[in-house]
Amino acid sequence: MDVELRVNGRVERLRLDPRVTLLDALRDRLGLTGTKKGCDRGQCGACTVHVDDRRVLSCLTLAGSAAGSRVTTIEGLARGDKLHPVQQAFIEHDGFQCGFCTSGQIMSAVAVLREGQARSAGQIREQMSGNICRCGAYANIVDAVRTAWAAEVTD
Ligand code: FES
Ligand code: FES
Repeated sequence: MDVELRVNGRVERLRLDPRVTLLDALRDRLGLTGTKKGCDRGQCGACTVHVDDRRVLSCLTLAGSAAGSRVTTIEGLARGDKLHPVQQAFIEHDGFQCGFCTSGQIMSAVAVLREGQARSAGQIREQMSGNICRCGAYANIVDAVRTAWAAEVTD
């Protein structure tokens, strides 16, 4: 099938098998490898991207179903040389070790802030519970999200 995707502000026209997931289309066809394949079955959150500003698991989303929607990946967050405030906060708080889960964590965190769901450490933990970190960097991840939240509410 022919699919037109709008990814990070660019229109991409692809010819795909209808069974191809959004994750595989992003990584294998568009070279956007910042989105990670962890489990490929909806259990780890490493593949989190935004479709029309809502976070989705791209391994459970067919590429064809995203046709006509706005898809944002980790590559689309920064503005030129200026990192997104959540990316900056992850760096400042060491919110990662190996980094494999990090793009998914950041995409989730951006959505959590947008949803107004980062009022406390407990709420952040609950809202990001679908993003697993095998390195156990959770404490620093929560600190990073709290810092980004504080910057947003005082902005
Ligand atoms: Fe999609 Fe794990 S790769 S949830
Ligand atoms: Fe290694 Fe999260 S930083 S899995």
